Amino acid sequence: MVVGEGLADRHFRLLARSIPEDRDELERLASMEGRHAMQFVGCGRHLGIKPDLALARRLFAPLHQLFLDCDRAGDLTGCLVIQGLIVECFAVAAYRCYLPVADSYARPITAAVIDDEAEHLNYAERWLGQRLPGVAEGVRRISTQALPIALGILQSLSDDLQAVGIDPIELLGCFTLLFQQALEAIGFEAAVARRILIGAAAASVAPA
Ligand SMILES: [Fe+2]
Ligand SMILES: [Fe+2]
Repeated sequence: MVVGEGLADRHFRLLARSIPEDRDELERLASMEGRHAMQFVGCGRHLGIKPDLALARRLFAPLHQLFLDCDRAGDLTGCLVIQGLIVECFAVAAYRCYLPVADSYARPITAAVIDDEAEHLNYAERWLGQRLPGVAEGVRRISTQALPIALGILQSLSDDLQAVGIDPIELLGCFTLLFQQALEAIGFEAAVARRILIGAAAASVAPA
């Protein structure tokens, strides 16, 4: 959580630079992510656990690298899909699954963070939705690349999730449903959104 939030902070700051007309809003979203990171550090300290930051950094590195590649190439659609849809759906799904098992210190923090992440998701849905059909192919392409990475992160975290009381299958289900809904909110037909997700699932289980 802490690593994902830290990266989200960086991603929104890069987006603020690339989308000058929304700079203030994106910097505000970045600051929210920075605050989330601090809050979850506090939650971990309260529980007396030290998160494995090195492992989390390693797991998130390919997604972060893909974001940086898109940023460098001026592919705003790619950046918005990676941070605004994939990372945010991942965050909402993870925190929704965490909420029922969170301790009394973390619960109100987690509930408030879920609302924040939903706002971030809405920003990306709005931005991409206003640019359809022009961005449709870009959304499909980057989703096909980035979704298998996100699904791989979920798989790698399976044991850790179970250790804190989260059912990894339920989290996977919640994530895919949210992503499907996000694609539909942008303007994709349900069948097309489903195809994108199934394609990514197939890619993530295909032998290397
Ligand atoms: Fe966040
Ligand atoms: Fe967020």
